[in-house]
Amino acid sequence: MGLFDLFKNVVIGEDSLKDALEKSGAEFRPMNEEDLWGVMAIESRVYQFPWSERIFRDCLSSGYSSWVYEGAGVIVAYGIVSAAAAGEAHILNICVHPDAHMCGYGRKMVEKLICVAAEHKAETIFLEVRPSNHGAIKLYERLGFEEIGRRKSYYQALAGEREDALMMSFKIEGNATFKDFC
Ligand SMILES: CC(C)(COP(=O)(O)OP(=O)(O)OC[C@H]1O[C@@H](n2cnc3c(N)ncnc32)[C@H](O)[C@@H]1OP(=O)(O)O)[C@@H](O)C(=O)NCCC(=O)NCCS
Repeated sequence: MGLFDLFKNVVIGEDSLKDALEKSGAEFRPMNEEDLWGVMAIESRVYQFPWSERIFRDCLSSGYSSWVYEGAGVIVAYGIVSAAAAGEAHILNICVHPDAHMCGYGRKMVEKLICVAAEHKAETIFLEVRPSNHGAIKLYERLGFEEIGRRKSYYQALAGEREDALMMSFKIEGNATFKDFC
């Protein structure tokens, strides 16, 4: 039984998972190396082509802004955004524990990364997403991201195939809506 299952069985009682997590004082904090086993457990469950632990370690050592959302010692979501250079920031990874999808944590994490980018004076924040990842695209569109192009054959796919990436962006500068959640 994983930690998250334990958390659900022991802590939740009559509460919904989300209520229990919020009551436990769930909050954002910077990701550190000790988080990587928990992060990798989620990463390998949700992605067909997960990042390796090495990539996460490189993000941490490169100083990319890396966050977890944690409740009762359990990582619920994580996200990584590159620091702004030339007014640009890039969301490199955003992921929610599979048992906590559709509870608003994806939105919460993307909003957090937008706020971090704004603090770094980014004017625009970019990301790539698989066209087949309808849930993620919906999340980004709901937040106000717009499609700006495609990168051909960007992602690894099954059977040695490649999949394009949709490129999306969110304008921070001059955008009053992001101040609602920052
Ligand atoms: C994509 C992901 C981050 C969404 O996180 P989530 O916590 O489930 O999403 P939220 O509950 O915050 O949903 C935000 C909005 O997106 C919509 N949405 C999220 N997932 C959806 C899905 N699978 N299908 C349809 N809509 C979806 C929600 O309905 C919600 O819309 P609303 O504002 O109209 O209510 C999550 O599914 C995940 O971790 N997936 C695996 C990793 C991944 O694909 N990351 C993105 C890589 S680019």
